[in-house]
Amino acid sequence: MVRILIAGELNPDLILRDFNQFPKLGHEVVVEDISLTLGSASAICAVGLARLGDDVSILGKVGCDSWGDFCCDFLRRAGVDVSTVIHDPGVRTGLTVSVTSGRDRALITYLGAIENLKASEIQLPFGFTHLHISSYFLQRGLRAGCLSLFTEAHRRGWTTSLDPGCDPSGEWGTDILDTLEEVDVFLPNEVELAGVSGVDDPERALRRLQNGRTLTVAKLGARGCMALEGRRLIQSPALRVSPVDTTGAGDSFDAGFLHAWLGGRPLVQALRFAVVCGGVSTQGSGGTGCQASAEEAEEKLRELAWH
Ligand SMILES: Nc1ncnc2c1ncn2[C@@H]1O[C@H](COP(=O)(O)OP(=O)(O)OP(=O)(O)O)[C@@H](O)[C@H]1O
Ligand SMILES: [Mg+2]
Repeated sequence: MVRILIAGELNPDLILRDFNQFPKLGHEVVVEDISLTLGSASAICAVGLARLGDDVSILGKVGCDSWGDFCCDFLRRAGVDVSTVIHDPGVRTGLTVSVTSGRDRALITYLGAIENLKASEIQLPFGFTHLHISSYFLQRGLRAGCLSLFTEAHRRGWTTSLDPGCDPSGEWGTDILDTLEEVDVFLPNEVELAGVSGVDDPERALRRLQNGRTLTVAKLGARGCMALEGRRLIQSPALRVSPVDTTGAGDSFDAGFLHAWLGGRPLVQALRFAVVCGGVSTQGSGGTGCQASAEEAEEKLRELAWH
């Protein structure tokens, strides 16, 4: 049986939706709606996996504060095991403020506990079969230790995956290329793929990253996704939808891809399953407002004759 451990960040998202004008320094803008919900790539992916029926635990760090409790309660209610979350009285739980419309969004993050989690604090628990890590660049304390965590996971016979998330510094670095030597599935979006590979064209970037182990899946927003099977390019278009909120679409995509890939589906089917999960998630507010169940995703695949 598949059992997934996600090592990563935990924070709420404060979402300010539908601005009359994008904020500029020195000006005030008005938004139409506001909500506080679960944020962070790791947590949104975890809830997406639980919604798909997977057995998933999260190993992250929060402060001993109401935002940390909010995250853990939210995850528990969604069916994610939080018994491995570290509550540290010495740090404050991070927060992301998301200013969003149907077209796009801007994020402001206070990292807090997110950058404080270190690999040395993580004793990988037993009983899992897959290790997923997100937000490689935001998790500054964990970054250097990701390679050893993935190596240990492989030593135990688990599979591994990494969603890099963006590098706010724009530097990207080369350490991630060494880390990929121990990553089975790599899930960057278009900007991240270009940053990590140093190549703008996604197909050429995928070829550049081939290292004999890692399957890189490029998430291309409304253009869907692509991956290489050997030398052959496999693609899937996105769902045709009018997005309500694209926050976390990539994390719901990750959940869909991992669910399908770990379930043994061929690559093209796993890509289609993933774009369905990514596309459906844009239909609700926040990262977890509208994530597909396995039945809903299957129904969509049947509708599209993508089976
Ligand atoms: N406008 C859209 N229409 C349809 N599907 C979309 C749209 N935006 C995102 N998706 C789906 O979600 C997947 C991931 O989106 P994207 O490439 O934007 O990832 P991302 O930038 O990592 O997302 P995020 O950081 O918001 O979680 C896409 O491959 C696609 O399947
Ligand atoms: Mg992403």
